[in-house]
Amino acid sequence: MQVAIVRKYGGPEVVELAKAEVPTPKPGELLVRVTAVAVTAGDNRLRSGVFPKGFGPIAKLGVGFRGPRKSVLGIAYAGVVERLGEGVTEFAEGDRVAGVNGKTLGMHAEYATVPVSRATKIPEGVAPAQAVGALFGGTTALFFLRDKARVQPGHRVLVNGAAGSVGSAAVQLAKLFGAHVTAVTSGQNEEFVKRLGADEVINYEYTPVESLCSGAAVSGAHTVSGADTDSLPGEQAPSKFDVVLDTVGNIDRKLGLALATNAAVVVLIAADLAGTLGARGRVVAGVAPERAADFAYLLRLVADGQFDPVVTSVGGLEQIEEAHRVAASGHKVGNVVVEPCSEMAATKAAGGSAL
Ligand SMILES: NC(=O)c1ccc[n+]([C@@H]2O[C@H](COP(=O)([O-])OP(=O)(O)OC[C@H]3O[C@@H](n4cnc5c(N)ncnc54)[C@H](OP(=O)(O)O)[C@@H]3O)[C@@H](O)[C@H]2O)c1
Repeated sequence: MQVAIVRKYGGPEVVELAKAEVPTPKPGELLVRVTAVAVTAGDNRLRSGVFPKGFGPIAKLGVGFRGPRKSVLGIAYAGVVERLGEGVTEFAEGDRVAGVNGKTLGMHAEYATVPVSRATKIPEGVAPAQAVGALFGGTTALFFLRDKARVQPGHRVLVNGAAGSVGSAAVQLAKLFGAHVTAVTSGQNEEFVKRLGADEVINYEYTPVESLCSGAAVSGAHTVSGADTDSLPGEQAPSKFDVVLDTVGNIDRKLGLALATNAAVVVLIAADLAGTLGARGRVVAGVAPERAADFAYLLRLVADGQFDPVVTSVGGLEQIEEAHRVAASGHKVGNVVVEPCSEMAATKAAGGSAL
């Protein structure tokens, strides 16, 4: 089978295609024929070796000094169950599944093994790329908004970095939970985040996020709801939020608390080491868990038309360098995926000619 590997840290061009043996599922695992897989901000870090400030030495101790020890990257996947490991009863061969495979990685491949705890069935009507688009970003936004910030109807939620995979999911989930959403994005993505449901959009090219805490009149705030949907120069942007969610890394504890009401929760999703160590009380950082129940919840929302994952497919595994380029740009819109295998492929892993 074909895999994409990274032998040493570097730009998107270091990603190579190679041949590998199809893995054998261990007890409790599934062998999955991968039909869609994301190239995420995390994959970009593992390929480039560039980690948030302060995390570099610790991260490289864990993942490798010159390049990633696990050379096949990729965590957020959709696929078809090709073979069951011993003792697996929850799934059957041919099931369409999706999940996030955590530190195990290995999904930038035509076939990969995943533990059953990292898989859920894809509901009918949801395409593989849509499933991947919902899960990466969606699981993170769901955990921090629902479980940590406990967003309630009427809450004012600020999403900084609203166009990316976490941000685009956060805008939609916060709206679903009944919040009033202010989205911070570039001018290029203003219309896009409005379509996701944001009530107000702040263009950071005109209005730096730190200026919102002064309550000063700003020139880049656009009210989407209400009669006037055009640019409203001089409009008062909301200065106090019940939830501040930063996916960019340019809101620290001090700024987050200055933007927040006294009871608000500040979520620093892209915090550096100092920000992570300093997260306590109303300030939250860290890594979101990847839970099958959350995968199922998000995919059900997609199937029911309540969550529209933002995803761009660049083609097959041979296009993965291009997907890495998009992820490395810092201006990715939603998720970017590659589609290594077709859902229709009838080949069985045991002895099939496509392997
Ligand atoms: N803690 C966790 O569990 C967890 C989980 C997943 C991801 N993460 C981290 O969260 C971060 C975001 O991940 P992602 O997948 O959403 O990234 P992404 O898809 O690459 O999106 C980044 C977004 O940031 C926006 N952006 C860039 N500069 C900005 C600025 N100054 N102000 C506002 N928006 C700006 C870009 O939009 P424009 O083009 O509009 O600028 C882009 O859409 C990454 O650092 C990732 O490692 C953490």
